[in-house]
Amino acid sequence: MSDLVRQQYEHLPYPHRDPAIELESGLELGVLDTLAAIDHTVFGGRWDRRKPCRILVAGGGTGDALVALAQQCADAKIPAEVVYLDLSEASRRIAEARAAVRGLRNVHFVTGSLLDLGRLDLGRFDFINCSGVLHHLDDPPAGMAALAAALAEGGGMAVMLYGALGRTGVYPVQDMLRHLVPPDLPPHERLAVAKRLIAQLPPSNWLRRNTGMVDYKLDDASLYDELLHSCDRAYSVREVHQLAETAGLRVAALMPPALYDPLSYVKGDVVAARAAALSPMERAQFAENWIGALKKHSFFLVAADNPVAPPSPDQDRAVPCWSVPPPLPPAGQGAVIQMMQQGLPLGVQLTPEATLIARAIDGRADLAALRRATKLPPPVFRDQFTAMFRQLNAMGALYLRLPRG
Ligand SMILES: C[S@@+](CC[C@H](N)C(=O)[O-])C[C@H]1O[C@@H](n2cnc3c(N)ncnc32)[C@H](O)[C@@H]1O
Repeated sequence: MSDLVRQQYEHLPYPHRDPAIELESGLELGVLDTLAAIDHTVFGGRWDRRKPCRILVAGGGTGDALVALAQQCADAKIPAEVVYLDLSEASRRIAEARAAVRGLRNVHFVTGSLLDLGRLDLGRFDFINCSGVLHHLDDPPAGMAALAAALAEGGGMAVMLYGALGRTGVYPVQDMLRHLVPPDLPPHERLAVAKRLIAQLPPSNWLRRNTGMVDYKLDDASLYDELLHSCDRAYSVREVHQLAETAGLRVAALMPPALYDPLSYVKGDVVAARAAALSPMERAQFAENWIGALKKHSFFLVAADNPVAPPSPDQDRAVPCWSVPPPLPPAGQGAVIQMMQQGLPLGVQLTPEATLIARAIDGRADLAALRRATKLPPPVFRDQFTAMFRQLNAMGALYLRLPRG
C-alpha cells in the first residue's frame, strides 16, 4: 500500500504549493505551528531558546510546517535544525524550493519513510510535527510508535489526524471510486471519472450534504487526496487518545481547546452540568459529537509520564505571546477578536481594560511589566488579564512563556 501512497504524492504533491509565490503568499501558521503554542503546551512555557534544538517534520509534504517552523526559529534566532522527512521526491523538491526562496539555512532534507526512523539514524528530536500523515499508513500505531521512539526526553509532538464525523460522506464516495477506478489505474483516468461522478451526486448523497467537506473542489491534488486515496481512515477523539496511548504518549491539548469544550456550546442547564462533570477526554468526545463538523483533530502529545503543564496566568514572570497578533481598536474601546477554526466561528468580546492589556502584549513584557505599563490597579489587572487569557488561550490566540534566568 505504501508504494501506492508514494506514487500518489510523486504525481500530485499535496497540498499544491507554488514556490514562485512563496514570499507574496506569506507565512501560514496553523494551530500546531506557532512557537508560542508549542512552548506553552509542550514545554510548559520553559523552552530554553538559547539551547540547540532539533525538530522533525515527518511526512513534510510540500513544506508548510517545515517553512513555518524553520522561519520562526530563524526569526527568533533559535539554534534549531529542522529535518524534513517524506516518501515523495516531488514533494521534497517543492519544500526545498520554498525553503530556498526564504533563504532558510536551518533545514535538512531526507527522503524516506517515518517507519524507518530507527534505521535512518537521524537522532532524537525535541519536537516532531506529523500532520495529515499517520491516517495514510497501513498501520498507524506503528507510525506513532516510530515517532515516539525518535522523541528526545521531555520533547513533544504535534499531530493532525482526520476527524471521523466531519468527514461524513467521504468514505462511501472513496468506496465507489475504488471500485470504478482501482488505485493502479493512471491518475488522470481516475481523476476524470471522479469528476464525472461528483458532478452527478444526488442531493441525498452524504458528501453532497456535507457542506463542510469542500476541499476536493480546490484542485486535482486535493480531489485525489480526499476522494481517491488508496489508504485513508479517520478518528474519533476517543480513538485519538487510544492511538497516543499505544505509543506511551498522552494528549497534552486538542487544538484549539475551545472547539473541544462542550461548555462553549451548551450553557446553563442540566446538559451543561452533566457535560462539565465528564472526564476531559469524554468532554472532548462530547464536543465532537455535538458539533459534528470537525474534519480533523489537531493535537499536541507528550510522553505519558511527562508531568508538564501549561504556565498559569497568575505568575508575574509569565510573558503573554500572541500566536498571531490580532488587529486591535484604539485605546478606550473594547476589542472583538474573531477567527474561524475548521469553518466554525470562535470569538470573544474584550472589555476596554482587557483591550488595553492586549494592546501592550508584545511577546517580551511579562505580566508585572504589563501591569505597570497599563497602570491598572493590581486586582483589576489580574481579573481582566485572567478572564481574557482563558478565552483567548482556548481559541488558540494567546499563550504564556516563562523566561529563563
Ligand atoms: C496529506 S500529505 C500532508 C503533508 C504535510 N504534512 C502537510 O500537512 O501539508 C501526506 C504526506 O505524507 C507523506 N507520507 C505518507 N506516508 C509516509 C511515510 N510512511 N513516511 C514519510 N512520509 C509519508 C506523503 O508523501 C505526503 O507528502
